[in-house]
Amino acid sequence: MDYIKYIAELIKIDGIDEDYASLITVPKDLSLGDYCLPCFKFSKVLRQSPQIIAENIAKSIDVNSDKYVKSVQAVAGYVNFMIDKSGFAESAIERAVREKDNYGHANIGNGRAVCIDYSSINIAKPFHIGHLSTTVIGAALYRIYNALGYKAIGINHLGDWGTQFGKLIVAYKLWGDRDTVNKGSINELLKLYVKFHEEAKAKPELDDEARAWFLKIERGDKEALELFEWFKELTLKEVGKVYERLNIKFDSYAGESFYNDKMQPILDRLDKQGLLSVSDGAKVVNLDKYDMPPCLLVKADGATLYATRDIAAAFYRKATYDFYKCLYVVAYQQNLHFKQWFKVVELMGEKWAADLVHVAFGMVSLEDGTLSTREGRVVFLSDVLDKSVEKAKSIIEEKNPDIDDKDEIAEKVGVGAVVFSALSSGRIKDITFSYDKVLNFDGETAPYLQYTYARCRSVLRKAENTDTSCADYNAVVSDEGNELVKLIEKFPQVIVAAAEKYEPSMITHHLIDVAQSLNKYYFNNRILGEASEVTAARLKLIEATSIVLRNGLTLLGIGCPEHM
Ligand code: ARG
Repeated sequence: MDYIKYIAELIKIDGIDEDYASLITVPKDLSLGDYCLPCFKFSKVLRQSPQIIAENIAKSIDVNSDKYVKSVQAVAGYVNFMIDKSGFAESAIERAVREKDNYGHANIGNGRAVCIDYSSINIAKPFHIGHLSTTVIGAALYRIYNALGYKAIGINHLGDWGTQFGKLIVAYKLWGDRDTVNKGSINELLKLYVKFHEEAKAKPELDDEARAWFLKIERGDKEALELFEWFKELTLKEVGKVYERLNIKFDSYAGESFYNDKMQPILDRLDKQGLLSVSDGAKVVNLDKYDMPPCLLVKADGATLYATRDIAAAFYRKATYDFYKCLYVVAYQQNLHFKQWFKVVELMGEKWAADLVHVAFGMVSLEDGTLSTREGRVVFLSDVLDKSVEKAKSIIEEKNPDIDDKDEIAEKVGVGAVVFSALSSGRIKDITFSYDKVLNFDGETAPYLQYTYARCRSVLRKAENTDTSCADYNAVVSDEGNELVKLIEKFPQVIVAAAEKYEPSMITHHLIDVAQSLNKYYFNNRILGEASEVTAARLKLIEATSIVLRNGLTLLGIGCPEHM
């Protein structure tokens, strides 16, 4: 039952042709009504005061014969609709319970492809706390779009090209050995890379060697390629462990090197279209007109750039997936980069340039972040996860020492807490990560949501054999019950809005509201041991709440322990 649509159909105003459904909202003060229509917009056309218009609408609706709407009142330019709360509760709760794991899912996408470029790590570089946001925001969007009937395509646009790989080979050949690197993996590669830079200060000839090795990679020299592939394999194996813990998968690992042979046709076309100009030997697209510095595509020495690869990748993705949208979940530091090359694609006359979206986000730093940079210490994401899980375990041991499968629960809580921290505020905000903050069981955190979910499940387990078919939904229409029911009912719309705004935090916020509302309800209302039709209705309310929490957390990539 779509109440907004229903109410919209009751509204008729002579001389106005509007989609009323899009104007109907929920009043701030729920005692005024469940829905309202503001009439200010019509005032000019009708040459009447909003209040008079509201009164005329109110008069025209006959509530005596209406099954769903209980009263209609005009107040201060709004028409307030009070609906039959028990009917509303029944329809909202039963829908959630019926649709269960699919509640909140929809087929809006009709199978259209949405490419999501996220995580996009760099080979032979550590997977650190700075990658947290792109990884978990991207993965959440991936699940959200799939849930809405799109075909999400997760792409890890690997940073696997550039002169640094020449440096790495030189360092490896001078100071490395296979066993140590195999054992130490990225850490060891990083050490070699750092050593190269230290040594190259005194011996600049190392840089020439590095360039020579990079050229060998480019020309497909066997030894160079073998080493390069090995570095890549080590890196992917290492980050793969983290992806597994986060329950993340990619459909493609086509990285920068994949586009080596796909840039020339683009450059030729740019040239033909008269878009390329030469500046100090480099090839650029001038963007003066758009108040941007030129987009550099080929350096004077013939080397292509990050932007060149991104443009080639976009054409490849359009041809391969025919995307409806192509999202780039990348830090806001790269705003200019994306604005520039999106513009280049637009100037090439590609309409789909408008479907390229930079989903930018702010920085994550650790509370003791400054300290660790000064020490030259990189904070690995896997270490952050480990530490969080360890802390979660000690909290669980303290709160609930007799619980089974402590390790499994600690993993879900600890990892969930870290994931949540990157999804809890609007994307663009910079965040400071603190273990105490993210693991606070009473705060706006993942553990709080998980705990609330486990609480619901525990009540439901206790009442496992209760017959709920006799539910009388008048038992859940108190202000607290009504508030919770409304949040349950709104959940599917929140998912749609989160997809439209590329903002998983909208789901996070909603879940916090649901959990707070549930806990308030639970504190003030007895569930078990009431008259059977009362207990039945309240159990269904708890079940619907648990479904919303579980589906929401699942979309965000946060595990839901059945008990805690
Ligand atoms: N590897 C890049 C970095 O760490 C991010 C790549 C983002 N994706 C893209 N298509 N440019 O900065």
